[in-house]
Amino acid sequence: MEYKNLLVEASEGIALVTINRPKSLNALNSETLAELNDCFKALEADDDVKVVILTGSGEKSFVAGADISEMVNATAPEGRVMGMLAREAFKRLEDMKKPTIAAVNGYALGGGCEISMACDVTVASEKAKFGQPETGLGILPGFGGTQRLPRLVGKKMAKELIFTCDMIDANEAYRIGLANHVVPADQLIDYCKAMAKRMMKNAPLSITLAKQAINIGLDVDIDAGLQLEANLFGLSFATADKKEGMTVFLNKGKEKHFIGK
Ligand code: CAA
Repeated sequence: MEYKNLLVEASEGIALVTINRPKSLNALNSETLAELNDCFKALEADDDVKVVILTGSGEKSFVAGADISEMVNATAPEGRVMGMLAREAFKRLEDMKKPTIAAVNGYALGGGCEISMACDVTVASEKAKFGQPETGLGILPGFGGTQRLPRLVGKKMAKELIFTCDMIDANEAYRIGLANHVVPADQLIDYCKAMAKRMMKNAPLSITLAKQAINIGLDVDIDAGLQLEANLFGLSFATADKKEGMTVFLNKGKEKHFIGK
C-alpha cells in the first residue's frame, strides 16, 4: 500500500501503520484522514493481516491533532466536512473486525488522543502525552473526543480535560484508563507486537464477535447487551474454531490450529 502520508508495513500477520508527517508532528490534514480511511478499508479486507498497530513517525509525536494550518481559514461547512471525514475513518478503525493497538510514542493531542481512543488497546511510551487542547483554539473536540473520552474515563474527568486543555503524561493516562500500559520508548513497538502475537493465538472470529459485543453493548442498555452477547455466544458455536479449541483442550493437546471459520 502506497500513501503520501502513511507508511504501511505488514509481516507475520501484523500491519504497522505509521502516520508520517513529521514536520507537523504527524498532524492530521484532510488528505491524511482520507488515506487512513482507505488504509483501514484495505486492512479490513486483507485476510493476511490479523492485528493492526497504529503509531506516529519520529520520537516526539504520535499525532499532534488535526492540522491547524488547514483549519485556520476553514469555514463552518468545511469544518463539518473535516469532522465527517474523521468520523468515517475513526469509526472504520473502531469497528474493524480485527484487533487494533495504538502505540502512542509521543504527543497524542486533540485528534491524536481521539484516534488512539478508537483503537481497541492503547500502549503508551513513557514519553507520551495526552490532551484535548481544542477549547484553547476556539473549537471543540471534533474527531470523537466529546463522545469517546467520557465513555472511557467518565464524564467528570473528560470535562476537566476538555475544559482545561491540560496535557497529561503517560502514567496519568494509565491511571484514568486512557492507556492500558506504559512502557519504555525503545520497547514500544516490540511490546505491541508481542501483544499482537498473543492475540493471534486465539480464534479470530471469537475476537471479532467479542469486540462487537463490547462495542455495541456499551451503547445499549444492559438487557439488550446481554441478549446480544447470548446471540453472539450462540453464533460462535457454529464455527470450526469452537470445535478445535474445545477438542484440543479436552484431549490435553498443546497446539490449537484456528482457521477463522
Ligand atoms: N497542526 C499543524 N501543525 C502542527 C500541529 C498541528 N496540530 N502541531 C504541531 N505542528 C507544527 C508546528 O506548527 C511546527 O511547525 P513549524 O516547524 O513549521 O513551525 C512543528 O509542528 C513543530 O511544532 P512545535 O514547534 O510547536 O513543537 P514544540 O515541541 O514546541 O511543541 C506541541 C509541541 C506541544 C505538540 C505543539 O506543537 C502544539 O501545541 N501543537 C498543537 C497541538 C494541538 O493544539 N492539537 C489539537 C489540534 S485541534 C484538533 O485536533 C481538533 C480535533 O478535535 C480533531
